Parts: sequence; structure tokens; C-alpha cells
Amino acid sequence: MDSNPGMHIRHLQVDLSRGFARHWNGGDAYRSMLLNALSMMFPTGEQFFIDSVKAALPRIEGKADAALLQDVKLFIGQEATHRRLHAQYNDELARQGLPNWVDGVLKRLIKLTEGFPVMSKLAATAGYEHWTAVLGDGLLRHPSWTAGMEPQMRAIWRWHAAEESEHKAVAFDVYRLAGGGYLRRVGLYTLVTLEFFTYATVQSIKLLRADGQLWTAATWRSALRFWWGREGIVWHVVPHFLRYYMPGFHPWQHDNRDLLEQWREGSRNDYRLVGASPAAPTQA
Ligand SMILES: [Fe+2]
Ligand SMILES: [Fe+2]
Repeated sequence: MDSNPGMHIRHLQVDLSRGFARHWNGGDAYRSMLLNALSMMFPTGEQFFIDSVKAALPRIEGKADAALLQDVKLFIGQEATHRRLHAQYNDELARQGLPNWVDGVLKRLIKLTEGFPVMSKLAATAGYEHWTAVLGDGLLRHPSWTAGMEPQMRAIWRWHAAEESEHKAVAFDVYRLAGGGYLRRVGLYTLVTLEFFTYATVQSIKLLRADGQLWTAATWRSALRFWWGREGIVWHVVPHFLRYYMPGFHPWQHDNRDLLEQWREGSRNDYRLVGASPAAPTQA
């Protein structure tokens, strides 16, 4: 199952120019700042995903079927839309005086790895895409993760989560078709997992410190509950994390199309469909 028939590029009808509360996620500093930290990683990270998949396209020329090529176009269009909206989101965080450390770090890292093999960058992208899909699946699956969010922010996070699930196999399928092997796939996955969680944690700490909330009991209680509570993130991600190491793994072995259908039904008024965007700009 390589193609997702419900996949579209969507323009989300939100207006971030009106801003949002500092603790927009249920009045909870930890939950707000953790997701803010992820948002700060997206514009540069998602451009890297687009560039990595585009760079690998010559390697699947003549081998890819029309469905995969269409999925690649939609993948590029979805990620380009995500990075645009998250850039607006991050502008509001800057207006609130919150420091963005991770964007510069990611830019330097990407510059440093410029000469790395195309297949390694694609393996890293497939690994990251597994994480965005797993976290997106959790966000749609567990209403408690989004229950206290401001409505506009809830719409943004659920939209991004759904589209990460829709295109979760695209980079993976391109990697496989381009001849990418198991060791490179899981090696880069291990590295990006460490990188992703380290950067997200450090950026969250910087945000909480700037917000004066790092050393409060409420922050630590919330963090414990968010990771280890009854619907804690740990219970959701650990099985998915391990599954990626199976030699025969494919992202659609975890079939969550029912969740996607529910999201499409419930949020029809939040977006309008736009056509496939064949080319997204390359990072300056
Ligand atoms: Fe995305
Ligand atoms: Fe993605």
C-alpha cells in the first residue's frame, strides 16, 4: 500500500496575525513550550525533507509509477504549506519575546552535511518522517493531547498531524525504490532520533527559562504527566520507535486511515483544498 488516496494539499483557514496566548495549550506552560519548540524546528527541517526527496528523484526516474510521483508532488506541497504556516506561528513566538535557538543550529547542521550522500540525507528524512507520523498519529488518536488547546492552535496541530500521516510513506518509498538499504536506514534513524529529542528538549528548556516557568512544580508535574501519565507519550511512541528496526518495516503496516477519515470529516470547514504544487523553493 504505497499511495494514500485521500492525500491533498490544504490551505488552513486560520489567522495567526491575531496572535495567541503565551500558554495557549490548556494554560499549561510545559505543554505550550514543548510544542512551540517543535514548531521552531519545522520551517528549516521541512525544507531539508523537501530538498532531500527532490535530490533523490533522478535515482527513481523510470522506476517510479505515476502514483508515487504524484505522492511526491503532494508531499512537497504539504511540507511547503506546513513550513509557511509554522513560520507565521514562530513569528508570533518571536513577538512574545521567546528565543529561537534551534533554527540556527539546524541551519548550521544542514550546511555542515551539505556534501553528504543523497541516500544518507534521504534515509535521515525517512527517519524524521517516521517520527512526525508517529507523533501525529498520537495527536489524532488521543483527544486528551489536544483537549485544552486554543481552537485555532488545535486546528493547526491536528491538520499538520493528519498530513504527516497521509504522506508518512513517501520519503520511505523513494528511499527503497532508489535502492536504499537496511543498515543506512536504521543507522540514520538512530542518529536523527537522538538529534530530534535532544534539540526538542534543549529548545523547550530555553523557552521555559525565558518564560520564568522552568523551575516551577507545575511545569515538572505537567512534564511527568505528559510523558508517563495514563495517556502519556511514552506508551504511544515506544512500540512505534522499535518497529522501524524491523527489516520488513513499512509505514503503512500501521494502518491509521480511519483516524485520517475522522479528521477529514470533522474539520472540513477548517481548510480549502489546493492543487498539487510541483515545485517548492529551495532553501537559501
Ligand atoms: Fe510537515
Ligand atoms: Fe512530513
